[in-house]
Amino acid sequence: MCGIIAYVGHREVRPVLLDGLSRLEYRGYDSAGLATLADGKLDILKKVGRIAELTRHVASKPRTPAFQGISHTRWATHGEPSDANAHPHADGTGKLVVVHNGVIENFQPLKRKLEAEGHLFASATDTEVLAHLIGKAYQAGMEGSARRLSDAVRTALSGIKGTYGVAVMHEDFPGLIVGARRGSPLVLGIGEGEMFLSSDATALLPYTHKVVYLKDFDVTEIRADRFQIESMTHDTADYQVEELDYAPDAAERGAFAHYMLKEIHEQPQTLENAVRGRLNGEESSAQLGGLNLTPAELRDIDRVIVLGCGTALHAGMVGAQMLENMAFVAAETDFASEFRFKNRPLPRNTIFFAVSQSGETADTLGALREARRKGFRCLGICNSVGSTIARESDGGMYMHAGPEIGVAATKSFVSQVALFGLLTLTLGRMRQMSASTGSKIIRSFEKLPDQVRKILAGEEHIAAIARKYAQANSMLFLGRQYNYPIALEAALKLKEISYIHAAGFPASELKHGIIALIDPATPTVILCPQDSLYEKNISTMQEVRARKGPIIAVATEGDEEIRHHADDVIYVPRTVEMLQPILNIIPLQLFAYHAAVALGRDVDKPRNLAKSVTVE
Ligand code: F6R
Repeated sequence: MCGIIAYVGHREVRPVLLDGLSRLEYRGYDSAGLATLADGKLDILKKVGRIAELTRHVASKPRTPAFQGISHTRWATHGEPSDANAHPHADGTGKLVVVHNGVIENFQPLKRKLEAEGHLFASATDTEVLAHLIGKAYQAGMEGSARRLSDAVRTALSGIKGTYGVAVMHEDFPGLIVGARRGSPLVLGIGEGEMFLSSDATALLPYTHKVVYLKDFDVTEIRADRFQIESMTHDTADYQVEELDYAPDAAERGAFAHYMLKEIHEQPQTLENAVRGRLNGEESSAQLGGLNLTPAELRDIDRVIVLGCGTALHAGMVGAQMLENMAFVAAETDFASEFRFKNRPLPRNTIFFAVSQSGETADTLGALREARRKGFRCLGICNSVGSTIARESDGGMYMHAGPEIGVAATKSFVSQVALFGLLTLTLGRMRQMSASTGSKIIRSFEKLPDQVRKILAGEEHIAAIARKYAQANSMLFLGRQYNYPIALEAALKLKEISYIHAAGFPASELKHGIIALIDPATPTVILCPQDSLYEKNISTMQEVRARKGPIIAVATEGDEEIRHHADDVIYVPRTVEMLQPILNIIPLQLFAYHAAVALGRDVDKPRNLAKSVTVE
């Protein structure tokens, strides 16, 4: 949700900024811009459209070499995508520029006040108001005692409500960039004679693996050879320099046509990484070091509430069912965005899990803070190391899935479900789960990566089915129990990247109204593993058939019977019921992907979306 990259050092800055922006493009891609500072003069270039447009614009005429700059790729909140609304924004003097990720909630009264003082604005954005506020604070500081650019930034930020990750430059301060954050991520990258600011550490991988994850209210000054971090709320800012644990090419697309496809194909390793070192064969259990709870505390949990948004919530829905069915712990999910405004009476021994790939989703973070405010223990399930949710949780589990760049989440989903499987094993073995059930789950975990490989090997068959149905205006996805969240997730994937309307339902709900939608032009995907509810799913398929609705079944390998009931069948290997959702989602990710490709969609940058939604 908007990406920032800033650089000061020894390299010509424009290629560094453009490369960084293209790595951050998944965060927003309706317009982009950069500002460089050379010979005491700012040069601002902005363009509506993709980074490629900005790149062409930058290349269109020769420019003075520059070694410092700030840049931004935008996901519009205030003001439509346009050249004028693209960042960076300047103050009234034109000597100061700002890029901003986040939302300034009180920008309208602030703007009216500035307009009354004679300030003129060139855009409809909240960020331009911030630029004027910093400029005004700087002017006032020049006449008073505060002469640092960072002081002006602090003064301006102290008067705003909302969230920000910002980078600021001023013609009076060559060699300096000021950054600050509250609620939106900002990472400082430390190189040899060069420094970076970025919304996401993975954009820095080609340049440095040494980073500092800035905290809320941190203000930093970066120069080529040094940096300084202060806190707006504390006398001293404590920070840690961390080493990124990724291969330099972890965020590259390689030979795959899209990041989404690459990430779908990475899922065997994703599962291996999620599970590595966490299975305990001797005790037929799992070991989850980061929960920060004693065995007695784990045994005392009365209720689990899983919070998340979108795909992460769907993973939580599978997790909650696992916990109830197999670990005998009352568990439920809620939309993070809904939970945070509720006032639910809950038993004291309730524990929360905030699930988030990015660890920065504003709704999930808000819900986590609300639960903690009420005194509950909150654990995080995150992919991004050092992210805000990971830091603000009382403990949790990292997914170790590597960077997920495709806007449509794929590998993070299977990783999250796998982690809930491990949690279920841990809590279940402390309750009534038998050792033999525990061992069976462990064996099933061990087989999963190869089973996923087998599904991926059948990609061409799935692609052919996707092409066959890609012209449909609407599709239904049905599943029961563990597979109901899979129906939701598969429908979300299809909607997001193909723009085909799709909706997921519990299979049995069909007859309670949804059946009115069935006709020969509306395909139904039904998740029909050979489990305890197999016959019921067959009945549902017959109800669809009777209304001439085309059926695509996701079924268990070797099930020949299903061919009599479905137009197309995608087989998946069998595993224990609680892990079956991991295998069942894989073909439906591929189905969504190939339907989108058949329709010529921009799979990695679907319209209107952005990864990591840091606004509420
Ligand atoms: C769907 C998708 C979104 C995210 C949601 C939460 O493909 O990507 O629904 O799952 O915005 O994001 P995180 O997991 O980063 O909190």
